Amino acid sequence: MSSATTIFFNHSCILLLCLLSTPSWTSSFSGSETGDLEKRGDLFPQILRDEAVARLHELGKVSDASGYLERTFLSPASLRAIHLIQKWMEDAGLRTWVDQMGNVHGRVEGPNANAEALLLGSHMDTVVDAGKFDGSLGIISAISALKVMHDNGKLQKLRRPVEVIAFCDEEGVRFQSTFLGSGAIAGILPATTLEIPDKRNATVREILKESSIETTEESFLQLKYDPKSVWGYVEVHIEQGPVLEQVGFPLGVVKGIAGQTRLKVTVRGSQGHAGTVPMSMRQDPMVAAAEQIVLMESLCKHPEEYLSYDGRCSDSSVKSLSSSLVCTVGEISTWPSASNVIPGQVTYTMDIRAIDDLGREAVIYDLSNRIYQICDRRSVSCIIEHKHNAGAVICDSGLSSQLKSAAYSALKRMEGDIQEEVPTLMSGAGHDAMAMSHLTKVGMLFVRCRGGISHSPEEHVLDNDVWAAGLATLSFLENLQ
Ligand code: GLV
Ligand code: MN
Ligand code: MN
Repeated sequence: MSSATTIFFNHSCILLLCLLSTPSWTSSFSGSETGDLEKRGDLFPQILRDEAVARLHELGKVSDASGYLERTFLSPASLRAIHLIQKWMEDAGLRTWVDQMGNVHGRVEGPNANAEALLLGSHMDTVVDAGKFDGSLGIISAISALKVMHDNGKLQKLRRPVEVIAFCDEEGVRFQSTFLGSGAIAGILPATTLEIPDKRNATVREILKESSIETTEESFLQLKYDPKSVWGYVEVHIEQGPVLEQVGFPLGVVKGIAGQTRLKVTVRGSQGHAGTVPMSMRQDPMVAAAEQIVLMESLCKHPEEYLSYDGRCSDSSVKSLSSSLVCTVGEISTWPSASNVIPGQVTYTMDIRAIDDLGREAVIYDLSNRIYQICDRRSVSCIIEHKHNAGAVICDSGLSSQLKSAAYSALKRMEGDIQEEVPTLMSGAGHDAMAMSHLTKVGMLFVRCRGGISHSPEEHVLDNDVWAAGLATLSFLENLQ
């Protein structure tokens, strides 16, 4: 593998990478054969694999739904998750607290309490019908690595304070506004965030109060960490894509994270009787929405056929845009939603992502104009609201190279000699690291997942890959700068 192996999530690059290299340990590191590794006390399998995996499954059962995993911001299951995570942090020798947004913190000061702190973390909320690893893996691998240090008497010798944070909301399922936890700590959310309503019209402030967390505008704004007190933020996360599995590596270093925008589109027409209003006399918001959604697919598949090469977009930027641009309508609702009624209103979400921020903005501009044109032509009205906007993030090169060394050393400790370089890749998924990048430098480590599947109960990480993630985190902490 070449010395600068960067993998974007376009398939031609993946294929090229596979052709260039067949890592020697693709099959031997399958996770099903551990050989004598179990007996190697210095690899801490009981804590970094067995206990970590057991905890992932235990947390995966903490759900508001029966039969599938759903744990959204400050739901009853989230409160149970908070207690469980806090208990695990204490078991690792950390001082813990829950803040005014419901983030759980576990911290060790060490001998240099005034030094800038390393923050480690990920999110404890989930999507609906989620997998067990998204978010939880980053929290649990950080706690496990610190527990190993605690048990070995190294926790109090850490070069700088280390704090694990389990963020309350990254998915944005309940309030459509993502990063409520990491955004508050990074100081990028306005105090009006407390007044955002959920679908039942309960606001963030009211939901916090229901959980006995009294948050005022002042205490919300005080959640922001002083940038001078923080050294960096590191997040371990499942890849949620197929690249690491294809190249046969358990771990990869994230080079950057795609920017994302979430829109809410409301289309209003004329509600009526499905049997009596002639087709030519309808103002049907459902068919307008359908046309808009199909247009979105077409534009996002072939942006070069839609976007003009003006000042906003050069020829090459439009070409590179098409390799990372992804657009999704994941939620749609109609009113009054009955089979014999022409709907009066249709509301749907659009999630638009790309590595290139200018390209994403150009897509949103063009798409919005075309959505309005469709509404005009069909004599319905349209409102497009921007619910979430996050620019693309480039991970810090210093942190990334330390993570790369940590991953390499962990895999070498587990496997013996490793010839290949740990891959670097881009993330199409959003992460708390995006919000934290406004506070401090960020680095991320990805962990291979089966079939690249995520946001699904099929999501799976091999037990040995959980182990590798914990061992890499441990190695990173042992060599903390
Ligand atoms: C979070 O998982 C996101 O990328 O939407
Ligand atoms: Mn997710
Ligand atoms: Mn996640």
